[in-house]
Amino acid sequence: MSDWLSSVWFGSLLIPTAYFVAALVLILGLRAMSSPVTARKGIVLAGLAMGLAILVTFLHPQVGGNYLLMIVAILTSGILAWVSAKRVAMTDMPQMIALYNGMGGGSAAAIAAVELLRAAHGHDVGLLTNSIAGVGALIGTIAFSGSLIAFAKLQGWMRKVWRFPGQQYLNLLLFALTVICGVLVVIGYQHDAISLNMLLLAFFVLALIVGFAMTVPIGGADMPVVISLYNALTGLAVGFEGYVLDIPAMMIAGVVVGAAGTLLTQLMAKAMNRPLTNVLFSGFGTGDDGGPADAGGGSMQAIEAVDGAILMAYAENVIIVPGYGMAVAQAQHRIWELTQVLQKRGVRVRFAIHPVAGRMPGHMNVLLAEAGVPYDLIEDLEDINEQFSQADVALVIGANDVVNPAARDDSSSPIYGMPILNVDHASNVVIIKRGRGTGFAGIENRLFTGDNSRMLFGDAQKMAQELVAGVKTL
Ligand code: TAP
Repeated sequence: MSDWLSSVWFGSLLIPTAYFVAALVLILGLRAMSSPVTARKGIVLAGLAMGLAILVTFLHPQVGGNYLLMIVAILTSGILAWVSAKRVAMTDMPQMIALYNGMGGGSAAAIAAVELLRAAHGHDVGLLTNSIAGVGALIGTIAFSGSLIAFAKLQGWMRKVWRFPGQQYLNLLLFALTVICGVLVVIGYQHDAISLNMLLLAFFVLALIVGFAMTVPIGGADMPVVISLYNALTGLAVGFEGYVLDIPAMMIAGVVVGAAGTLLTQLMAKAMNRPLTNVLFSGFGTGDDGGPADAGGGSMQAIEAVDGAILMAYAENVIIVPGYGMAVAQAQHRIWELTQVLQKRGVRVRFAIHPVAGRMPGHMNVLLAEAGVPYDLIEDLEDINEQFSQADVALVIGANDVVNPAARDDSSSPIYGMPILNVDHASNVVIIKRGRGTGFAGIENRLFTGDNSRMLFGDAQKMAQELVAGVKTL
């Protein structure tokens, strides 16, 4: 009786309730992550939810006494993740996300492989469950190999972009072959010449190749969008495997991550004004996208930091536009210092953030928050764009594409149609960059040769420091 009671208590009450609470807290965590003000709380909540789900899994009857294996796996991955996350520089965050995401896809695929193997060896799981395991295996494996390629590209380990005529047709053929193998595995096709095990192996190898082949032709610059897409696929794969294992928390978490990844992918593609198909198949940023746009003639006019400081110190309204170069130079602390010295003089300073400034969603917000910039000084593109015409100075620090007027006025430009920050409408524009390097899209920017533009050449951190020193002497 007591055995019966305890199994009911654990099996039907405690475990499902704990999983439900974990799923709920995870959703609340994800919701809190949508604003920089509550993002830290969101991460803690999501972590707690994951902790609870892991803890409860130890009590799950299906675990079957494999505690040592579980503890070794958790400790190894936990320590590796802790050390790498502590060490990674903010600018390397996209590749770390790619790697971790790949691991998620790979784990979902590994679960699916076990389930498909069990079914192949006579364990009756039902056609629906086996099909769902197969779909999870397919997308999990593609997300795994695709994310590894994305990681290698962002890390600079794979600079070459392999593109050749008919590549997309070859990829389509590979995908079709993979699906055929998967269907044969799921229906338990038996033939003297080919065993189910061989079919299963072919299915996974082909799926790995599909992920590889899909990602190789995409330029490194588009990788953040691709990672977000693979993140969505990983979420879905986890959700499918949650169904197969009959763990509702895994199902809910997977579907929520899948939905969040899909929305983020759409958001990034929209902010770049490019359909997802263009990101996946156009070879943008690989040299196949029409080449550099016209710089519009004219020459750049340089300015010294001390003169830039005078312009800003005697201004009423300054808008700072950070971009990828600020992240590379880690100049956010100096920029916050500059803001404070200007504020002390009564200058109104605000930050304008483009949705795809930098190389990952929320890149600039994270850096500015790290430096201690209050959220009420930070404004989104839609809120601040009209106000550049009233700004005395727009300070562009390491941004290029997101302030390129060609996106607004030049229909032949590869970035035409992408919403930009209208910095050229300000009375004066001071642009900090090291030289004449192009941005992520690899195209010229006629903002730099505008009559109201002045180039402050140098590393963003060093120049920001010189601006601070300059303002302090006035
Ligand atoms: P970019 O267009 O990449 O321009 C960055 C500029 O920073 C470069 O022109 C570079 O010029 C300068 N720079 C680099 N290191 C510097 C340093 N140490 N000090 C000073 N300047 C430095 O950056 P952006 O305007 O932020 O645009 C982001 C681009 O990334 C967009 O095209 C966007 O579509 C793309 N993208 C973004 C995302 C997300 S989610 N954020 C995802 C995918 C793609 P110099 O070499 O002359 O210094």
